[in-house]
Parts: sequence; C-alpha cells; structure tokens
Amino acid sequence: MKKILLLGDIHANYPALKAIGKYIKPDRFDWIVNTGDFTVYSTFPNETIKWFRKRKKAVCILGNTDLRVLRILRGKKLKKPAKEEKRVMYFWTAENLHPENITYLKSLPEQTDFTVGGFRIGIFHGTLEDPDEELSPSAPESRFQQLARDSTFQVHIMGHSHVPYYKIVDGVHFINSGSVGRMFDGDPRASFAILKVASGKLAVEHFRIPYAVEEVVKDLKKQHLPNIYAKMFRVGKKLN
Ligand SMILES: [Fe+2]
Repeated sequence: MKKILLLGDIHANYPALKAIGKYIKPDRFDWIVNTGDFTVYSTFPNETIKWFRKRKKAVCILGNTDLRVLRILRGKKLKKPAKEEKRVMYFWTAENLHPENITYLKSLPEQTDFTVGGFRIGIFHGTLEDPDEELSPSAPESRFQQLARDSTFQVHIMGHSHVPYYKIVDGVHFINSGSVGRMFDGDPRASFAILKVASGKLAVEHFRIPYAVEEVVKDLKKQHLPNIYAKMFRVGKKLN
C-alpha cells in the first residue's frame, strides 16, 4: 500500500503545518503533496517553505498567491488584489522571504503529475484547465464531467477552493484536502487528507485538527499587519 499526505493552501500558517506534522509523522508517507499557496496571509512563509524544501518526498506546485509574490520580486506591478489590506500581506511576504526560499519557489511548476499503483495522478492548484478556477463540490456536475472527459488523469488533486471534499465523477476521482492554514467555513482547525492506494483501489480520509491559532495572531500583531487577519484565523472565516 502507498500512502500520500495531501496538503494545500497553507498560506504561511506554519503553526498549523507544524500541528499536522506532529499528528501524523510525515516521514511515514511515500509522497507529500502540496497543491500550492505556500505564502501570504500569515507571517511564517520561510518556515513553511523550509518544511517542504528539506523533504525529498514532497511533490509541490505553486498557487496564485505564490505567483503574485514572485511577480513582486521580479519588479512587476501587482494589479490584483485591489484591497490595500490584502496587498500589504503580499508585499510583506515579498520583503521577508529568504533568498533560498525564493529560489525554491522559482523552481516549482504550476502543475505536475505522477503515477501510483497504475493511477495517473494530476496535481493542480485550481483545476487542470485553470489554476484560478475554484472548483467547489457544489459546482455543476457537468463541469466535473467535462474535466473528467478532457483529462488523462484518473485522480485530480486540487486546492484553491479551501473546501475539503472527495467526489467520483465518471470514474475520475476529484480530491481537495481543504486548507491547512486559512479556513473559510467557520471551523478554524487545520484541514488535510490522506490518500491510500492499494490493489487498484483508492481510499481518502479527511482530517481537521486544532493548532496554536494564538501563535499566528501574536506574530501578526508583532509585524503590525492588519487586525482583520487575527479575527479571520480565530473564527476560520474569510472576512475580506
Ligand atoms: Fe489559497
């Protein structure tokens, strides 16, 4: 049996990632997938990136927030997001990232794939066709059917919507592990999933675990970042 740890949308929330690491012992997995958005909205992008950098089994891609940070670092203008309280989080991240972590981010693709036990597994931030598409489980069935038809993958592992789910449409498995570090559903606990592959079968299990939210809140304050984020982490909701 092969075991794959599914992580995504960490958003620089290292206390949440650390709590998951303690809970499941990541070295026991054959692969550790990260569907992107390592950075922005919390203050631990360096610790977060380093956690993956030192793991040989990590399979990582970039998300939209990472791409925007890299854009700032290339000296390009940032059109989106327009809200100042969001922009400040992007610029803070770009200013505080260590060179070795910038190099690592620059080395990552925007999507990737690998094969396990005969299953071709695609890793996407949004979807196969659009990294910015938020494919929630309530999206029309026809959209899932279209993606199933257009792809050569039997398994799609996705992030971006921050909604944990597992759906099988026309024989294709769609998995979102939810967000490790920036919850939208009113439950502030960290979300992740485990995928097991054995004798031609897949099993997916989702988890929600508590972490030291106040560690995040304290550091946001120390860095003089907008108060609204402290509230968001405490209630597990998107408030801006
Ligand atoms: Fe995200």
